[in-house]
Amino acid sequence: MAVIGIIGAGQAGSTLARALVAAGHDVVIANSRGPETLAGLVGELGSRARAAHVADAAAAADFAIIAFPYAPGDRLPAEELAGKVVIDINNYMAWRDGSYPEVDLGHKTVHELRQEQLPASKVVKAFTHVQFHERHPLRGQEDELPAVVRLARPAGAADRKALVVSSDFPEAAELVTRLYDDLGFDAVDNSPLSESWRSAPGTPMWSHSVDGQSREELVRNLRNAHRVIG
Ligand SMILES: NC(=O)c1ccc[n+]([C@@H]2O[C@H](COP(=O)([O-])OP(=O)(O)OC[C@H]3O[C@@H](n4cnc5c(N)ncnc54)[C@H](OP(=O)(O)O)[C@@H]3O)[C@@H](O)[C@H]2O)c1
Repeated sequence: MAVIGIIGAGQAGSTLARALVAAGHDVVIANSRGPETLAGLVGELGSRARAAHVADAAAAADFAIIAFPYAPGDRLPAEELAGKVVIDINNYMAWRDGSYPEVDLGHKTVHELRQEQLPASKVVKAFTHVQFHERHPLRGQEDELPAVVRLARPAGAADRKALVVSSDFPEAAELVTRLYDDLGFDAVDNSPLSESWRSAPGTPMWSHSVDGQSREELVRNLRNAHRVIG
């Protein structure tokens, strides 16, 4: 099994780590404060997980997940991630992160900006529209599970949900397609990164991030997206 580097260990990074370890993957996880602050999490995750500094996690990874918002000044381990697939799970939310004119004006997507920060890596947008927290409002005990676990189904199940993937590198989209399948989801390829605005917050597919959507619904929702400029 590949070693997956997870950079960012908040709600999303730690929940993905739990789901990936449960699916049999090895993870090395990092945050901005250092591995000692992740002792509780890796203790819970068991022998398939360890914590590391960001650069060490990137170096140890066969591929990596960036689980924190984009910022122009991000200091990323570009050298350690060179040649590797880097899964960017960030959603552009100006109210949270500040606004970026090239994104607001429709010149670029936030994931193309991430690709520019990591020119030697293969950036792929994924996991952005599945929740890593409990359902709101709760309808029953199962809703206490994060959607990435609650909505997972075996391949071929009638109610299997689909998640979107976008990249400028077909091999990166294929890697994510296999990872989605491992975790219990179908994939819809919405490449390249310049098209990834179709799955941004506020688009038709976005409102299904709570209870998921089938492959057919996701394809239709992506097609019906309209780019908001300004
Ligand atoms: N939460 C969800 O349900 C969800 C769903 C889909 C997508 N996302 C996306 O996932 C990303 C993370 O969301 P979240 O809810 O997990 O946020 P969060 O709880 O605030 O966690 C952010 C994590 O990233 C780490 N971090 C921040 N800057 C870093 C850097 N430069 N280097 C290394 N680690 C860094 C933080 O470490 P420290 O605590 O040590 O600073 C923290 O562990 C966001 O971009 C969000 O849009 C979230």
